[in-house]
Amino acid sequence: MPDEQHRAPTPYPGSGLDAAVVPTFTAEPGVMPSNRLPEHELAPELAHQLIHDELMLDGNARLNLATFVTTWMEPHAAALMAACADKNMIDRDEYPRTAELERRCSRMLADLWHASDPLTAPGCSTAGSSEACMLAGLALKRRWAARLGGAASGRRPNVVMGADVQVCWDKFANYFEVEPRIVPMRGERHNLDAEQAAAHVDEDTLGVVAVLGSTFDGSYEPVADICAALDDVAARGGPDVPVHVDGASGAMIAPFLDLDLVWDFRLPRVASINTSGHKYGLVYPGLGWVAWRDTAALPEELVYRVNYLGDEVATFTLNFSRPGAPVAAQYYQFLRLGRDGYTRVQQHCRDVATRLADEVAALGPFRLLTRGDELPVFAATLDPQVTHFSVFDVSAGLREHGWQVPAYTFPPECDDLAVLRFVVRNGLTHSLADQLLADLRRVLTRLDRQQHPMRDPRTDSAFSHTGAPSPG
Ligand SMILES: Cc1ncc(COP(=O)(O)O)c(C=O)c1O
Repeated sequence: MPDEQHRAPTPYPGSGLDAAVVPTFTAEPGVMPSNRLPEHELAPELAHQLIHDELMLDGNARLNLATFVTTWMEPHAAALMAACADKNMIDRDEYPRTAELERRCSRMLADLWHASDPLTAPGCSTAGSSEACMLAGLALKRRWAARLGGAASGRRPNVVMGADVQVCWDKFANYFEVEPRIVPMRGERHNLDAEQAAAHVDEDTLGVVAVLGSTFDGSYEPVADICAALDDVAARGGPDVPVHVDGASGAMIAPFLDLDLVWDFRLPRVASINTSGHKYGLVYPGLGWVAWRDTAALPEELVYRVNYLGDEVATFTLNFSRPGAPVAAQYYQFLRLGRDGYTRVQQHCRDVATRLADEVAALGPFRLLTRGDELPVFAATLDPQVTHFSVFDVSAGLREHGWQVPAYTFPPECDDLAVLRFVVRNGLTHSLADQLLADLRRVLTRLDRQQHPMRDPRTDSAFSHTGAPSPG
């Protein structure tokens, strides 16, 4: 009920940009400005209701097969996060236990990724993989400059990567003035291979980025082969180029499901690895992690020392303040699930993804690019004979049933290839997958009656499209 302090909203109608309040929530219907700081206070229940109602129009996170980011956690984890909502990760002095949880998680990851000494391998939490990649890239840039000494002055370093890298690597190159040396996709090859990686490096290459796995189609890049090809370059007197593994998703899948795959610090050329705690680390956003193989891989001048209970703690971050809650939630997941639990969850995702991929392939009009057997993610394109509808029509049709399955074109050199991408995460059960398939069949039946594609950026210049997959 409005009182002296909490004024009633201005009577309706407002400017059209204002937020309308209905009579059940207040004595009188009215409006609040939405783009200008309101003059007066509003009763808390009314403010809550207004925002809650507006957010109701967002998509349903559980039906979102576009994102890699965690959309379901156990109530215990959610409660822990709410209890830590007021903790600032940077205040290590005030919140030493939160800082300790970060250190434990960091060591657990270094151990999971086979660092030779997980207790001393440097690593830290970040806002997400993007920040983690910037830090890893910066470390590589400093190492390149140190390697060249005075000769680095006036030269521009480059970073070699496949055209499938996530946009954070373009940002890294742009923001830190590095040449993005992008190996284009060719024919059926949609990620970086060893031969191409080795062919693109030179004395100014600060590093090669190998992605485990690709945002475009979920495929793993062949990290061990890339390292072997670079070993060969170095053995023949060429540059000795380190590798960063962008394991935003795969660094939390491969250690549990692909035990025979050697992709991590077991390869001496792998200098650093990042992952997103908020993807297959199974934590709500935003949390990332980066680890270096040893102290030699992280130039000392990038590390800031802060006092932590009389002890010096090394920090290396782009942000200062950052929520501590995701770190507590990551520790909860590590403690709660252990290796067995992570293996069970990731295996279930892979089982759902591979079955869904097989069923999508069996529907007829689709051709699979990947099968969901690396990341639990797959991409499907339409058979060339299907000319009366597009993957963009399929995506829009699924949206009418509440499902968010993005459609996009591949990068230059392959931009005639348009795909649908399905990301399977913890929470997409076999029965939800069955429901998705049933809705997909309905959409296809309707689209079969269509004469021409309704949406297709390749033929429709009015169609707004960025040419990149929906952000992870
Ligand atoms: C391979 C890869 N690297 C980096 C990122 C950026 O991750 P974040 O959203 O955690 O910043 C993504 C996001 O999807 C990704 O797939």
